[in-house]
Amino acid sequence: MVVRVGINGFGTIGKRVADAVARQTDLRLVGVTKTRPSFEARTARQRGYPLYLTGDGKAEEFAAAGIPIAGTLSDLLGQVDVIVDCAPDKVGRENVRLYEAANVPAIFQGGEKADVAEVSFSALANYPRAKGKRRVRVVSCNTTGLARAASVLAPRYGIEHWEATIVRRAADPSETRKGPINGILPTFKLPSHHGPDVRTIFPDLPIATTAVVVPTTLMHVHVNHVRFARPPASTTELVDAFRASPRFHVFDEWEHVEGTPQVMEYARDRGQPRPDVMENVLWANGIKVEGGDAYFFQAIHQESIVVPENVDAIRAMFGLAPDAATSILRTDESLGIPRP
Ligand SMILES: NC(=O)c1ccc[n+]([C@@H]2O[C@H](COP(=O)([O-])OP(=O)(O)OC[C@H]3O[C@@H](n4cnc5c(N)ncnc54)[C@H](OP(=O)(O)O)[C@@H]3O)[C@@H](O)[C@H]2O)c1
Repeated sequence: MVVRVGINGFGTIGKRVADAVARQTDLRLVGVTKTRPSFEARTARQRGYPLYLTGDGKAEEFAAAGIPIAGTLSDLLGQVDVIVDCAPDKVGRENVRLYEAANVPAIFQGGEKADVAEVSFSALANYPRAKGKRRVRVVSCNTTGLARAASVLAPRYGIEHWEATIVRRAADPSETRKGPINGILPTFKLPSHHGPDVRTIFPDLPIATTAVVVPTTLMHVHVNHVRFARPPASTTELVDAFRASPRFHVFDEWEHVEGTPQVMEYARDRGQPRPDVMENVLWANGIKVEGGDAYFFQAIHQESIVVPENVDAIRAMFGLAPDAATSILRTDESLGIPRP
């Protein structure tokens, strides 16, 4: 079975999910949408992705730019088995009625509230729960990072308490109108929304989160303190537990990765189609077990971490793989994400 996929919204997340879908043998990318001509519309054309009008897009603007259009969103919806909504925050909810009217199942992103979908999804945590669902939400970049870490830690060690401070990037690299340029902005919602969002996947997880926004575009960094019920015997055991999981990358001290700039430089060096890091990034010397407590940093590449999760969400909905491990392996091999 090959599942036909449309992508509604071809921005930061949508263009990456489109490229990822196009690499799968059990999925077929039918088309992507844009509201206006832009360099990304040209990219879609160069990659051979049929382009459809969405939102308040105007065909004459595309004609003036010399970018051919294959139709409208409703034409795209008529040809797909699933639509991946990658529209800006909160626009996904407005799009629900269009998907329902066309009777097309949909995947939403983390900018939508959890009740937009029947299930919030993270492949390592709850892959089977998406089976047969018509509306699935892939959780946000920070929530994906925390949910993956919970998938490693909770079953092995039991979590009694977890505090995480999310050091958030201010904007994506292409978002020239966002700030701050110079300042650290506390998020005056205490605790922050990230903890409740992780609990849409792990309902009983005793996690409390706070957040600050800092002037960088590269990645988020989570500062974690976890108290375990059955703690690992040593720091080495915990480092090895992270290393043994798919979608984790642990740098050694000798690699001299001082922070997110070197992580992104590593991404450029390793030569994947995009210089992205779809894994949770940890440092062996940034993980420490002390009695029943553990401390660890993890960096999250906000632009790409949810990309493999969207591919797995489609497989999970349509039963295209027997289990999470098979889907994750297939996705990661196709995207060049190294195996543990
Ligand atoms: N960027 C991140 O760090 C990140 C990480 C994880 C999850 N997410 C979530 O992913 C979703 C998309 O975020 P993003 O960062 O990819 O946003 P983005 O870069 O702004 O891309 C969204 C694209 O949607 C298009 N669009 C505008 N109105 C639309 C409509 N009515 N219907 C369909 N598409 C429309 C816009 O393209 P045009 O040029 O065609 O107008 C825009 O480029 C959000 O829910 C966000 O919270 C983002």
